[in-house]
Amino acid sequence: MPDQYAVIGNPVAHSKSPQIHAEFARQTGQELTYERLLAPTDHFKATVETFIARGGLGVNVTLPFKGEAFDLATRLSERARAAQAVNTLKFEGNTIFGDNTDGAGLVNDLAHNLGRAIAGQRVLLLGAGGAARGVIKPLLEQQPAYLTLANRTPGKARDLAQSLDGRVEFVSYAALTGMQFDIVINATSASLTGALPPLPPGVFAHGALAYDMMYGMRETPFLAFARSDGAAALADGLGMLVEQAAESFLIWRGLRPDTALVLKRLRQAIA
Ligand code: ATR
Repeated sequence: MPDQYAVIGNPVAHSKSPQIHAEFARQTGQELTYERLLAPTDHFKATVETFIARGGLGVNVTLPFKGEAFDLATRLSERARAAQAVNTLKFEGNTIFGDNTDGAGLVNDLAHNLGRAIAGQRVLLLGAGGAARGVIKPLLEQQPAYLTLANRTPGKARDLAQSLDGRVEFVSYAALTGMQFDIVINATSASLTGALPPLPPGVFAHGALAYDMMYGMRETPFLAFARSDGAAALADGLGMLVEQAAESFLIWRGLRPDTALVLKRLRQAIA
């Protein structure tokens, strides 16, 4: 029987992870299965335990269970602890190892697929929810000139910025007027509802990249705004999805798959 992996979420039917991991497995010659597991919202832990009982070796965790996966892990990576959220679980004997590969996924997408080194760049991150929390530490590790955080509800972002020992500056959206950034990352859930974070015009520096963590829809309001406001490059979150999956695959199998071809195929499939 091949090694078993899965993605757990609710909803989970839309998840592209089975397709991505099947391609990684084929490419690296690994024998494994990767399925979707829909967990009732109050049965995350039971769903994981059932999967372990039938021999499962690891899972990816998606909305709304990343916080519960964090609580369930008996050993955590440094980056999962910083994010207070887990998207990858690995089952080893009695240990449940929890990691978070979202930030590495973003950083690798920027570096490898988009050719954008973060070092020395002025980076603006929009949002202060789980998606933003997951990427802050990996972004800081790349040594941007500075990392600025903007959020609609100031208290939430201020608390987050304070918990990071002043390495991230918090500003309100209004206070962004007159400021310019080389990379602007939308980690809010605004695109899901077709909304636009209240960015003032003029935040995109010459040559700036606008990055929306959302994918799979036509141009998001954020990317449309960025285009009209002069951003030089636009990117959605499909590359981050493939890169975070590659990082999970590495944790489980000890091999890093090549992401370029998988990303190209996925891009063609959703076009
Ligand atoms: P996730 O885990 O996906 O980050 P979340 O924890 O619910 O989801 O956080 C959603 C983020 O998107 C928050 O930062 C939220 O801002 P508030 O803290 O002010 O709620 C942000 N967000 C959602 N809709 C938004 C909008 N229309 N404009 C600006 N920010 C928005």
